[in-house]
Amino acid sequence: MHVVIIGASGAIGGAFLDHYLSIPNCRITACARLPCSQWPKSVNAVSIDLLSEDTIELAAQRSEQNGPIDQLLICSGLLHSDSIAPEKHLAQLNFNTMRSVFDVNTLGPLLCIKHFASRMRQNVITHIGVLSARVGSLADNRLGGWYSYRASKAALNMMLKCAAIELSRKNKKLVLCGLHPGTVDSDLSAPFQTRVPSSQLKTPKESVACLLRVLEQRRPDDSGFVFAWDGQRIPY
Ligand SMILES: NC(=O)c1ccc[n+]([C@@H]2O[C@H](COP(=O)([O-])OP(=O)(O)OC[C@H]3O[C@@H](n4cnc5c(N)ncnc54)[C@H](OP(=O)(O)O)[C@@H]3O)[C@@H](O)[C@H]2O)c1
Repeated sequence: MHVVIIGASGAIGGAFLDHYLSIPNCRITACARLPCSQWPKSVNAVSIDLLSEDTIELAAQRSEQNGPIDQLLICSGLLHSDSIAPEKHLAQLNFNTMRSVFDVNTLGPLLCIKHFASRMRQNVITHIGVLSARVGSLADNRLGGWYSYRASKAALNMMLKCAAIELSRKNKKLVLCGLHPGTVDSDLSAPFQTRVPSSQLKTPKESVACLLRVLEQRRPDDSGFVFAWDGQRIPY
């Protein structure tokens, strides 16, 4: 089995990496902007920057050293940074923030699918799981705010739907889904955890255990949809 993890330096990506490291004979390609020097030598560690298509294409080529891909997990994402905060009001919107968030959350993952999808194994069920978010659901939006993040995930969901339709014509056993991990303790969620009851805050390991179950149960008919950690389909 060959698993590719993009965003393996993050909390959720790292928990996926730990899980697959515990499976004997699993070949792993782990991609991050700065591959971690602590990763075992058995891991095919590859640099990727979602803001550079050249690095994405090169990473896809370098994944070939482990053979065809059985599972591609795209775990990268951006909600805030030193210069970016999720917008609560229209007055806080600006081009730079909106473009940066869309680049990382929407366009980068789609370019990963562009370059990695043709390297998925054929004739057996394979999975591409892309970390989306419940707040990207238009139907579920009751509070507003977080304009760029919500819209980038809504656009991601549309792109996943389009890619799922196109890829199903070439690889009938490929399953491509968006995944909502729940509220997970990570750098991404840290500034927004104060109002989250501790019973609802998952560790990355707990979330990944749920996501693996959800992903493993998905079949080609599920392609193009977004599923939460508890298996429920999230309306667009
Ligand atoms: N945590 C939650 O509660 C929660 C809830 C809903 C959805 N999600 C989604 O789950 C995914 C993972 O989140 P997380 O909580 O694990 O966040 P995290 O720990 O902050 O990890 C984010 C990952 O994205 C990578 N990344 C950011 N910009 C990148 C770029 N330009 N090129 C390549 N990689 C880049 C980071 O790499 P570096 O290490 O290089 O920065 C890191 O590996 C995200 O898509 C997020 O939207 C999370």
